[in-house]
Amino acid sequence: MEELSPSSSCELGRREYWNEFYTTELENFEDYGDIGDIWFGKKNLARIVEWFQNHGIDKCLPVLDVGCGNGMTLICLVLDFLKEDVKSSSMFCKREFHVIIDKGTYDAICLDVEHAEKKRKQYINQILNLLSSNGYFLLFSCNWTKEELLLHFKDFMLQDEIEVPSIGFGGKVGQTVTALVMKKHVSKHIS
Ligand SMILES: C[S@@+](CC[C@H](N)C(=O)[O-])C[C@H]1O[C@@H](n2cnc3c(N)ncnc32)[C@H](O)[C@@H]1O
Repeated sequence: MEELSPSSSCELGRREYWNEFYTTELENFEDYGDIGDIWFGKKNLARIVEWFQNHGIDKCLPVLDVGCGNGMTLICLVLDFLKEDVKSSSMFCKREFHVIIDKGTYDAICLDVEHAEKKRKQYINQILNLLSSNGYFLLFSCNWTKEELLLHFKDFMLQDEIEVPSIGFGGKVGQTVTALVMKKHVSKHIS
């Protein structure tokens, strides 16, 4: 099986890197049945499914997984939560989404060191545009703390935090992943 690790963290900010990465993943799937990488692990994927199950999300409302990679997040949601209620034809032609999930995509965008600032602003404006006024934005990051993300996403308000295990090192306690649920401030819609 081919090696998929990046040779430097900045590669994760480049489109060519991801094109190559998922081409290799597809080949590995076709050749070996390997489902590929689940970013931040199966437990965090399960936490997303659990959040949907516990928050009375209407199964008919559209969900977007931004930067979906190999699609495992949506596959697990369909299998474990949406099940027979999924209406595939209506999921792909929406301009507004009730839930937007980001697991590792904002992190990747921020690693494009040359264009990070511009891309971050574009990304945040896109999320503002795509999220319905009462919708939820689930953001999983391994590069930013809760405080940093809330500074970046000023036009959003924190709704909830998905609990992830803490780790201790050198007398300090922290998390390897930050998982926030945000909503838009009322009247925030960029055109
Ligand atoms: C760390 S992977 C996470 C994939 C997926 N969300 C998951 O949980 O498995 C980062 C994703 O961000 C996407 N990505 C990176 N830079 C992007 C950009 N500038 N615009 C859109 N997507 C981007 C990549 O194609 C990739 O799917």
